Amino acid sequence: MDLTFGDVQETALIPLAIKASETARENARIVDFKAKEIIDALGVDVSKYDPFMSHEGVVARTILYRDELKRLIEKYPDALCVNLGCGFDDKFTQVDNGRITWFDVDLPDQIEKRRKVYSDRDRCTMLEGSALDGEWTKQLPKHDMNIVVMEGVLEYFSKGQVKTCINMLCDSFEHGYLLAELHSPFLEKNGNHHDAVKHTNATFGWGTKSGLEYLELEPRMRLISETSYNEEMKKYSIRGKIFAIIGKNINNRLAVFEW
Ligand SMILES: C[S@@+](CC[C@H](N)C(=O)[O-])C[C@H]1O[C@@H](n2cnc3c(N)ncnc32)[C@H](O)[C@@H]1O
Repeated sequence: MDLTFGDVQETALIPLAIKASETARENARIVDFKAKEIIDALGVDVSKYDPFMSHEGVVARTILYRDELKRLIEKYPDALCVNLGCGFDDKFTQVDNGRITWFDVDLPDQIEKRRKVYSDRDRCTMLEGSALDGEWTKQLPKHDMNIVVMEGVLEYFSKGQVKTCINMLCDSFEHGYLLAELHSPFLEKNGNHHDAVKHTNATFGWGTKSGLEYLELEPRMRLISETSYNEEMKKYSIRGKIFAIIGKNINNRLAVFEW
């Protein structure tokens, strides 16, 4: 593997480092051998990207996204799935039912790096594209149902960029679901204290109190559900339980939209 440390964007290192360290644990709650392979190959100390609360948050979101995706794929077994802003994520392996058609989409420089560690697989293809411009969607095969996954992407966008992105999705796909990671206005203002992101140059974008705020930007969408990561995190530790009380409205959420 000829990936170097500089090839991995710092914000993408956080989930990778966490998924790799969880995979190495006994009784791992999530298993991601690709993340472990990438982190082992980088051969650098990534422990500062793996503090307790971020670790628990990434494990929780990975479980919530996986289970929600599996539910949707069970309902629409031939869906077209797009992991938009895929980074180095390997969600396809976690949810493949042998029938879905999957595209891993990211900006050209990130796809170039991803190609160093992944090859296209049967029904799973990498594609250069931006969440802010739908040109790439013209290359996709037409499907009755489209499921778009955005994990760890929208929270870095301004309100204007979120609007551009969700308008683009509704223009490009006749029917679909969007699995979106939302964060609070508190994190927008205080992101420089986030226990892992503070080690990067990234800043958080537009935060929301409710997924309903997205509907003002894109009336074709309906909000189906919204789940705080606290719901998963509180199952595993006392700190998770306490945070679910004191950080009730602070933690990130998985919102599912339909159009
Ligand atoms: C924090 S990483 C998350 C990666 C992956 N989804 C995960 O959860 O492991 C953010 C990703 O969003 C991508 N990204 C940023 N702006 C984008 C845009 N306009 N269109 C598509 N991807 C974008 C970055 O290149 C990066 O891979």
